[in-house]
Amino acid sequence: MSAAAEWQELHFTARKDQVEPLEDWLFARGALSVTLEDEADQPLLEPGPGETPLWDAVRLTALFAGAEDLTRLLGEIPSELCTQAPTVAVPVADREWTRVWEDQFHPLQMGERLWICPSWTHPPNPNAINILLVPGLAFGTGAHPTTAMCLRALDADLPPGQRVVDYGCGSGILGIAAARLGATAVLGVDNDPQAITASRDNAQRNEVPDAAFRVVLPQDDLIASWQASADWVVANILAGPLVALAPALTSLMVPGGRLLLAGLLVDQAQEVIEAYAPEVALSITDQQEEWVLLAGEKC
Ligand SMILES: C[S@@+](CC[C@H](N)C(=O)[O-])C[C@H]1O[C@@H](n2cnc3c(N)ncnc32)[C@H](O)[C@@H]1O
Repeated sequence: MSAAAEWQELHFTARKDQVEPLEDWLFARGALSVTLEDEADQPLLEPGPGETPLWDAVRLTALFAGAEDLTRLLGEIPSELCTQAPTVAVPVADREWTRVWEDQFHPLQMGERLWICPSWTHPPNPNAINILLVPGLAFGTGAHPTTAMCLRALDADLPPGQRVVDYGCGSGILGIAAARLGATAVLGVDNDPQAITASRDNAQRNEVPDAAFRVVLPQDDLIASWQASADWVVANILAGPLVALAPALTSLMVPGGRLLLAGLLVDQAQEVIEAYAPEVALSITDQQEEWVLLAGEKC
């Protein structure tokens, strides 16, 4: 190990059931972070609240300070905690480690006016509506096609002065975008408490006052006060929950209000369209990869 190295990494391949004990073992021996990646290109759909789903085969990267004696550590790793012997420590310069984050998350333009920028970056266009986000545990960095389609639709069509519901708000990205695009009141709803915290943190980071973007769990009393009063409802969830939520979402809308639904695949569109008919006549208005956006007005 070069004396100049700031950091070093160990790389492992593990089965899903080995990940948690292996992480615990690594943290107990001084790992500063453990990053998990898919080893076998296996897509994971949206987790339920409190769930942290994992791929069947997981690639772990453990980061240690440059001064740690990883040669000794390599000899101590219990064989039942990984499927292959870990690869030897790789020196990582400080600069390169920062770049790992920069490579994964970078500013993204969404339509004409909106940019989604990781909080540590300088927005490339200071005159744009820049939304600063910390990619955390809650879904919604802007990189996913379903989020991107919703953001582009908000950017293109949301008039100022609207009351907007962001149902399944995750990181709060859509609700914050709506507020920054001129919505006067936004209600964020999510059934995952982590999403409530993330949405509030991100709203604060973007100087969206609490009063302009209220964020609540689905059973909160505040939802009753929004009945039949939302000009726009945006929900980026999955097809199954979107079908189940049809009565709840339509009851929030004013007549003539606009509904945007994302999180469904092209071959699930018909089932979701039927669940909202005849109150809302939905049609596919955008497609990115295999994901579609449905939009329509309430009668
Ligand atoms: C795909 S994420 C979307 C996050 C963000 N709105 C975006 O567009 O990137 C879906 C979110 O919906 C939430 N969710 C799923 N089912 C829900 C339900 N029945 N009621 C409320 N929220 C739900 C999840 O916890 C998750 O945060």
